[in-house]
Formats: sequence, C-alpha cells, structure tokens
Amino acid sequence: MSSLTKHAKDAIRFSYAPYSNFKVAAAVLTENNQIYTGVNVENASYSLTQCAERSAICSAIANGAKSITEVVIYTPTQHPTPPCGACRQVIHEFGNNAIIHAVCDSDLQQRWTISDLLPVSFNQEQLNKA
Ligand code: THU
Repeated sequence: MSSLTKHAKDAIRFSYAPYSNFKVAAAVLTENNQIYTGVNVENASYSLTQCAERSAICSAIANGAKSITEVVIYTPTQHPTPPCGACRQVIHEFGNNAIIHAVCDSDLQQRWTISDLLPVSFNQEQLNKA
C-alpha cells in the first residue's frame, strides 16, 4: 500500500458525512514530496458541502505547496470512487499532470491522469486571451 493510500485511509475517521453517510478521504502529494489529507465536510445547508479532494488541496496550498502531482481518493466501499466534476477542475488548477488513484476496501482500484478525466479544462489561458 502506498504512503498516500495509508494517509487517506487514516484520515477517513475525520470524515463528516452525517447527511449522506458517504465517507470520503483524500491524500495529495505536492511538488516537495509533502503529503496533505482532507475529508468530505458536509453541512445542514447541503450545497455547502466540501469534498475530500478539495479539502486536501486547500490544506496543501494553505501550507505553502504550489502544486500537486498525485491524488489518492479513498472510500470505505467495495468500488472505487472517481472525483466529481468540481474536484477535477480544482485538481487541474494545481496539477495539470496529476495522477489520480481511487482505492476502496476491495481489491478494485482505478488510476487516471487528470487529462483523462478533464480533457478540456477552463484555465488561466482563457482569461489571458480575454
Ligand atoms: N464527495 C467527495 O468528497 N468527493 C467527490 O469527488 C465526490 C463526492 C462527497 C461529497 C458528499 O459529502 C458525499 O461525497 C456524497 O456526495
């Protein structure tokens, strides 16, 4: 098991998902080989829910990281969970070559590049062309 996966599995206990009961944890690797974790944080006002991947990325950036190279998404389920569309966009912002692994409690796992998952992104280039 990779170190990133161990970190994500360890963080799952902090997931706050009383409304969906769908717990998610993520661990990201930065350009400096630092690991940051995050979990989903739900809210009674449902749309304010923060996904695990974005929690982990915000933690990395808030602690001085500039980019991410790898993301592990862990769910305590029998099938791996791909990142939602919003998380794909945020992963792309900080890791346009990032590798994403989805792991779970069975032997099933999946691996993608961010360009597999978000082949056409909205990014700084569009703003610079405006
Ligand atoms: N969730 C994540 O944490 N990451 C994703 O990429 C997909 C969805 C969370 C949000 C919510 O707390 C729960 O999963 C059910 O949607």
